[in-house]
Amino acid sequence: MKRIVVLTGAGISAESGLKTFRDSNGLWEGYNIEDVATPQAWQRNPELVQEFYNMRRKDVLEAQPNLAHYALAKLEERFDVTIITQNIDDLHERAGSTNVVHLHGIITKSQSSVNPELTYPIKGWELGMGEVCELGSPLRAHVVWFGEDVPMIEEAARICAGAELFILSGTSLAVYPAAGLIHYVRTGVKKYIVDPNIPAVSRLTNVVEIQAKATDGIPELVEELMSNKY
Ligand code: OAD
Repeated sequence: MKRIVVLTGAGISAESGLKTFRDSNGLWEGYNIEDVATPQAWQRNPELVQEFYNMRRKDVLEAQPNLAHYALAKLEERFDVTIITQNIDDLHERAGSTNVVHLHGIITKSQSSVNPELTYPIKGWELGMGEVCELGSPLRAHVVWFGEDVPMIEEAARICAGAELFILSGTSLAVYPAAGLIHYVRTGVKKYIVDPNIPAVSRLTNVVEIQAKATDGIPELVEELMSNKY
């Protein structure tokens, strides 16, 4: 089966009611990154950081996958699909996608504040301040903060290099190293970009721009790919 790699960002979950980061009224308008999404923030004010991610978890648990998530899951019927997502929600999985790489972690899990490899499922939306890992250190959300390593980036780059068709949707490509992944996709490979506000990417060939919301553009593209043309 042809290998399709899909790189998604917050925009794919926007129509599920989860805010993006950089659109108007996005999360980074209401919060400073330095206050909630860095190791220094956790040192200074762990309660605020914990509360920020507890709220994100609550929103995610209340949200449902949308037509774009479902359409991407359907692609697996005809293609070998890997989704690389920057999102910390689990909406791709809940829609039925079976092969999802979470570059920036996943909000439904906690991690040890001293060893990021120790992760645990969280029951419900609230991670309490008193909860500790097996080493006795406080638990924090299993998300990658600014200034931290992105442990899955090499694996993601390898997956992109093996893509035979590439889809990018719902990301402004403002955050590295994720934004650099598109450059690992081979030159001859067709790259579809589905976004109401197509992000600027330089030095990229074989690009098809679909200026649309994910719930319009993705199901239409999936239908086209599922037809016998490919
Ligand atoms: P951004 O908020 O930077 O970008 C959202 C993108 O989604 C933009 O390109 C929008 O045009 C697009 N968009 C908005 N509504 C859409 C819709 N209905 N359908 C399709 N696209 C839509 O979000 P990301 O690029 O995901 O990282 O942000 C990348 C990273 O920055 C996040 O993973 C997070 C954040 O800080 C960390 O916290 C480490």
